[in-house]
Amino acid sequence: MKSLFPDQFMWGSATAAHQVEGNNLNSDVWVEEHAEGSPYKDKSGDAIDHYQRYREDIALLAGMGLNTYRFSIEWARVEPEPGDYSYAVIEHYRDVLKACYEHGLTPVVTLHHFTSPRWLMRFGGWASSETPARFANYCKFVFEEIGELIPYVQTMNEVNLPVLLKGLFTKMNIVPPVGIDASYWTAPKWREVSAEQCGTTMDRYFTFHMASDDNSIRIVNEAHILARAAIKAIRPDAKVGLSMALSDMQSIPGGEENAQEAWDAIFQPYLAAIQEDDFFGLQNYTREVYGAEGQLPPAMDAELTQMGYEYYPEALENVIRRVASVLKLPILISENGIATDNDARRIEFIRSALSGVQSCIADGIDIRGYLYWSAFDNFEWQFGYSKTFGIIGVNRATQERTIKESGNFLGRIAKNNEIDLTIS
Ligand code: BGC
Repeated sequence: MKSLFPDQFMWGSATAAHQVEGNNLNSDVWVEEHAEGSPYKDKSGDAIDHYQRYREDIALLAGMGLNTYRFSIEWARVEPEPGDYSYAVIEHYRDVLKACYEHGLTPVVTLHHFTSPRWLMRFGGWASSETPARFANYCKFVFEEIGELIPYVQTMNEVNLPVLLKGLFTKMNIVPPVGIDASYWTAPKWREVSAEQCGTTMDRYFTFHMASDDNSIRIVNEAHILARAAIKAIRPDAKVGLSMALSDMQSIPGGEENAQEAWDAIFQPYLAAIQEDDFFGLQNYTREVYGAEGQLPPAMDAELTQMGYEYYPEALENVIRRVASVLKLPILISENGIATDNDARRIEFIRSALSGVQSCIADGIDIRGYLYWSAFDNFEWQFGYSKTFGIIGVNRATQERTIKESGNFLGRIAKNNEIDLTIS
């Protein structure tokens, strides 16, 4: 049985600057990795040296058959000190964008993917009312310089992740999608050290991952609104949105209210700010099941991914339907994927997820593309290099890239713009 996708469907894969570029020295996450008592398993170091090897990497992705590449521009590089912009860094990203076009890939650019410049912490980070304007100024600069090359832009990645993480940590001891270890969440020591390294004190140290209270959520929303306005003023035809991490919140009898509450907590606070957007970046990895007492652990016989959460590709379809029922914006699936060393399971995961996407499209939901997370095995935040999400493997000793079967599988689907649900 074959399923067709709309013409112009965006088939691609995604990365984030800190996770692939290497040596993102000026960012808050780099500081946290190196702080005494750091919860980060590895240091990002050279990562997969994408900052140098982007041309080779982009050529690989295009060669596989993909037509879209989502990557992020690093604020900490573009603006190493407040108001002090680097033209050399802009030239770098200009060339990344050019390489995309030369290889027939549509770029989808994220302007903030978790990391912020160290200096932002001196000004109170994501708890400061000055941050939205600072962020918008950075976005303005990027768009003044290279905006004509950016057709799709996400101001921020997973604005709601901090709320999702907070919820998970307080409810039970499981590992949330981005891989932050619960036991370190409130540990003060390494945060204190990080604050010091950023030239400030704990009371001002407030990273993006902490933005889960009313004040910081308001700041994140305002940052999005100001950034969107700044971008639109320069390039009105750029498609602007943001992304959210959305688990499929399910319930067993008695857990309906808890599941609804969990969904509302991660979705509702951001809705007003995105009404004027051009598209919605939907990101999903798994489901969460709720009972009367709260979230339930995965069943004893459930298959778990390397991240410790349930293998459940059907979650994507459910989340798309739920979002589409309340939000009248085109949807771009800007992340969906699995960490596994069993590539056959990755192929199955992609196939099932896409079959769900296809059925949503058949029902008239406006879905513009599917971007697998991730293009490469890369730096999975606190888990370091131990989690392999990539459709391309990387030997970090030699930086050699190897396309996995799952990469060829996704590439074939992209080239044919259809998925054969029966053949691997
Ligand atoms: C993030 C990525 C991360 C991925 C897998 C998403 O929450 O955007 O940066 O690597 O999930 O955990």
